[in-house]
Amino acid sequence: MTKSNTGSFTLTDNQTGKSYDLPVLHASVGPNVVDVRKFYAQTDHFTYDPGFTSTGSCESGLTYIDGDKGILLHRGYRIEDLAANCSFLEVAHLLLNGDLPNKEQKAKFDHDVTYHTMVHEQLSNFYRGFRRDAHPMAILCGVVGALSAFYHDSTDINDEHARMVASFRLIAKMPTLAAMAYKYSIGQPFNYPKNNLGYAENFLHMMFSVPAEEYEMNPVLAKAMDRLFILHADHEQNASTSTVRLAGSSGANPFACIAAGIASLWGPAHGGANEAVLTMLNEIGHKDNIKEYIAKAKDKDDPFRLMGFGHRVYKNYDPRAKVMQESCHEVLEILGVDDPLLELAMELEKIALEDPYFVDRKLFPNVDFYSGIVLKAMGFPTSMFTVLFAVARTTGWVAQWKESIEDPQAKIGRPRQLYTGPTERPFVPLDKR
Ligand SMILES: CC(C)(COP(=O)(O)OP(=O)(O)OC[C@H]1O[C@@H](n2cnc3c(N)ncnc32)[C@H](O)[C@@H]1OP(=O)(O)O)[C@@H](O)C(=O)NCCC(=O)NCCS
Repeated sequence: MTKSNTGSFTLTDNQTGKSYDLPVLHASVGPNVVDVRKFYAQTDHFTYDPGFTSTGSCESGLTYIDGDKGILLHRGYRIEDLAANCSFLEVAHLLLNGDLPNKEQKAKFDHDVTYHTMVHEQLSNFYRGFRRDAHPMAILCGVVGALSAFYHDSTDINDEHARMVASFRLIAKMPTLAAMAYKYSIGQPFNYPKNNLGYAENFLHMMFSVPAEEYEMNPVLAKAMDRLFILHADHEQNASTSTVRLAGSSGANPFACIAAGIASLWGPAHGGANEAVLTMLNEIGHKDNIKEYIAKAKDKDDPFRLMGFGHRVYKNYDPRAKVMQESCHEVLEILGVDDPLLELAMELEKIALEDPYFVDRKLFPNVDFYSGIVLKAMGFPTSMFTVLFAVARTTGWVAQWKESIEDPQAKIGRPRQLYTGPTERPFVPLDKR
């Protein structure tokens, strides 16, 4: 809960000479915030911050990022420690319930999520309405929104039990829905989940097994998949999470809110970047072409950007990118894959990190830079990369949505604007225009 104010900001309106005291609210770690909630009422002015570069939209106890130092904490724990020592569902428990589970809590949580992995049989008819070549993110936006039509009993956001059931359902069904989108696109039958498998194992089984053959689970790949899910589980108030919170602030049901988050995640500036990185690496094609592409990325008249580079918050190496890079080497070695794209990516990173343009702007590789290469080696088509991000991020979205609904200070999200359109003018009838 919000720490009491122990300071204030004094702001002077130089037009009138009037001064206003704005309270400061204290963060447990990281920057404090200036409370501007009464600013408009007191001053008749709005604050202006497109892109929310200086604006806190909510109070949260889930995730903390120190972008300058490259630190990411979930409920106080470092992402590197979680990725090395936990399962994805332990991290999901941490995000949803505030702490890592003990053995009994872990067993119960794993059971509760696993119990919800199947989807209503009629939902599979939805898939048949899509073209076979539909992008799986397009399918996911549709079917996740449609969940609210199938699970009415968990759409009452004011009922704590319904909120919890909806949270379990979303986390549990997302891998099933994602794998179904893939199976549909390649014309193979849908696989039912197997509840004796772990979360990541189950996903791999639903993605890659076929009824005609026995599927051999590679435990190292299952571990790498689980780690990838952990790295993408939550990331503070990013675009898609803010979208989920904003949609939820109107009282919309959680399935609809998560569908909104998926739509926001899809863009190449956000979750679509992992797909865009691979497209970019394929386009660059060879180490000899790197210089040309670096020059394009630096040219302001060219829309090309180095995908997987730069971040709104990180002005240092993204700690998730470090873990992902290690994972990338490990997976490629185990699979015996010699992907020239990895070598190309490493060379590109090296050249960019020595270039003053990237150094001065503090542009470092982000989590998406290496994830595409790992996923490609594991057999995922490029179009599924952002879908995997959505599967993992659902946990963060759900935890953030729950936190926002349970926040007594929460209000409907309703930003203001700087209006620069025409002032009032007389109406002109059609025959006079
Ligand atoms: C992530 C991203 C959207 C953050 O954007 P942002 O916080 O609004 O930062 P800005 O767009 O203001 O960038 C700051 C400066 O760095 C430049 N820049 C940022 N990312 C760049 C990139 N990937 N390639 C080339 N230049 C880049 C901008 O052109 C700008 O330069 P300027 O100050 O000379 O105008 C942006 O870095 C980006 O588009 N990265 C590529 C996509 C990506 O990997 N997204 C995944 C994020 S996890």
